[in-house]
Amino acid sequence: MVKKIDRNKIAEMCIFPDSTLRRTMECINRSRLGAAFIIDAQTSQFLGLVVDGDIRRALLKGQDLETKIEFIERPEPKTANIELKTTEISKLFSERIRIIPILDSKNKIVDVAFYDQRMHLPVAEPVLGERELALVKDCIMSNWVSSIGKYVDRFEELFANFCGSKYAISTSSGTSALHLALLALGIHQGDEVIVPTLTFIATASSVSYTGANPVFVDSEYKTWNIDPDKIEEAISPNTKAIIPVHLYGHPANMDPILEIAKCNNLAVIEDAAEAHGAEYKARKVGGIGDIGIFSFYGNKIITTGEGGMIVTNDSWIAERVRRLRNHGMSTTRRYWHPHLGYNYRLTNIQAAIGVAQIEKIESIVKAKLEIARHYAIGLKGIRGITFPPKEEWAKNVYWLYSILIEEKSFGISRDELIRQLKDMGIETRPLFLPAHTQPIYHTGQRFMVSEELASRGLSLPSSVSMQHHEIDRVCSAIKKCSSKHEK
Ligand SMILES: Cc1ncc(COP(=O)(O)O)c(C=O)c1O
Repeated sequence: MVKKIDRNKIAEMCIFPDSTLRRTMECINRSRLGAAFIIDAQTSQFLGLVVDGDIRRALLKGQDLETKIEFIERPEPKTANIELKTTEISKLFSERIRIIPILDSKNKIVDVAFYDQRMHLPVAEPVLGERELALVKDCIMSNWVSSIGKYVDRFEELFANFCGSKYAISTSSGTSALHLALLALGIHQGDEVIVPTLTFIATASSVSYTGANPVFVDSEYKTWNIDPDKIEEAISPNTKAIIPVHLYGHPANMDPILEIAKCNNLAVIEDAAEAHGAEYKARKVGGIGDIGIFSFYGNKIITTGEGGMIVTNDSWIAERVRRLRNHGMSTTRRYWHPHLGYNYRLTNIQAAIGVAQIEKIESIVKAKLEIARHYAIGLKGIRGITFPPKEEWAKNVYWLYSILIEEKSFGISRDELIRQLKDMGIETRPLFLPAHTQPIYHTGQRFMVSEELASRGLSLPSSVSMQHHEIDRVCSAIKKCSSKHEK
């Protein structure tokens, strides 16, 4: 990422062609930036760049400290014109190029860009450490690297306890968990499954894998999740199940959904891919419907790299899922396949990471809540911002802290805000594009709430490792971007 420096510091970094190596080293030492600029003594025009390594190489070659800097070998420096955008400058950096002088039309240094990894704020980074490493090492040292092993069993046991469910069956991803859940319920060609249109594509595409059709329903403003009042009109004689999604960590309104499902004899699969630890009326999500699924992709609340989990209280479903994820093989007769199955297993190595992650899930969720609390303080009073949903019956775990932008009051559009924040090293994501607008599902329908949320929403950096000062940086950047905010 690009970081610019104070202009006064530029003068401190400059030397002339007849400066000695000794003088150059003193200059570099003073600036503490590992480089000095050679400028013309009369015109102050930029002539070249010297880094620590150039001096080291000159000394090793036998040149002494009194050698003039113009006589040592230096690679051609990269420079940037003052008109160049920060995003363009950042593309000039490489392993070797870490400092770039920015020149005006007269070739004078007006600014300096240097690469600073710490300046980049990603949307979501996992927290992996010594414990994960130790358990993975154990898998490798013991040769238990495939999908049988103590960590698979341990991870499933810990996850079932965490969700308050009787059974937890690990899978290769959240998507394969959804696919298996649908197959276990016997959903097939010609069936219909109700899904919110505002979700990650896997909620809908897993339905399509079975040959069934996803039927889209709009969201409600209150929770950004499937609107229970609009579910009934989407039910047909072919409907077999509803998949509520707990989007961005806020639970869907489950009671009315369960009621509709009961009255219409439909199964409920909770897509809790983004909501580990979230609660609906003090009950952990995932364990409320017939089946719950989770994702452990790298940006999720806990991760195994790739991975997923199915939770259920139904022993028949659990048994069926276990068989289907293992090639549909009989549990009593090896290499005997009564059902068409899949290889959707999680490896022991991934499960080892999962065990280390679930051991600290309470502190991860606590950190997510603290991030949300701090954002709420920092963003308070900025016009045109809507905070993430928080119903009184819900524990939102704020997987990604996401807000809505109202262009008129904020001053610039959501997309322009994303661009400007990117220039400042702050990564954000627009909300998911509704499934009914995707090329694979282009149904021609309109779902106005989902479309509006999707066009106005963005997720802010939400890594568990984020410090208060980093959240403050995001909030002040957002304030700076808002042309309507009093500066
Ligand atoms: C709502 C939702 N459902 C399903 C999935 C699929 O999970 P995975 O990426 O582990 O396959 C995701 C993942 O991003 C998701 O956000």
